[in-house]
Amino acid sequence: MGGGPGAQLSGIAGRVEEGKVLAAAISAAAGEQPCAVFVHGEAGVGKTRLVRAVCDQAAANGAAILWGRCVRWTRPTSR
Ligand SMILES: Nc1ncnc2c1ncn2[C@@H]1O[C@H](COP(=O)(O)OP(=O)(O)OP(=O)(O)O)[C@@H](O)[C@H]1O
Ligand SMILES: [Mg+2]
Repeated sequence: MGGGPGAQLSGIAGRVEEGKVLAAAISAAAGEQPCAVFVHGEAGVGKTRLVRAVCDQAAANGAAILWGRCVRWTRPTSR
């Protein structure tokens, strides 16, 4: 089985449709079509694992992957 966009992700159970959506977004970005995808779900459901697998596949296909993350920071809005 090949490792191109939309292929079953290595080490990932299921998530075929989600993987296709993310791979399509990466293909769009590679075609200079700005693209954002919001991955959401319950804690521990596999968001990070899925995104990392898609990014690993894209990197293997020549994409430059930049990772960032938000700092968890809250402050009271009233006293
Ligand atoms: N589709 C999958 N196939 C195999 N293992 C998976 C899959 N989805 C998740 N896992 C495993 O389940 C665990 C939790 O996954 P992950 O950390 O990606 O969840 P998350 O949604 O990002 O969690 P959080 O909300 O805490 O950030 C990890 O050990 C991950 O490897
Ligand atoms: Mg996570």
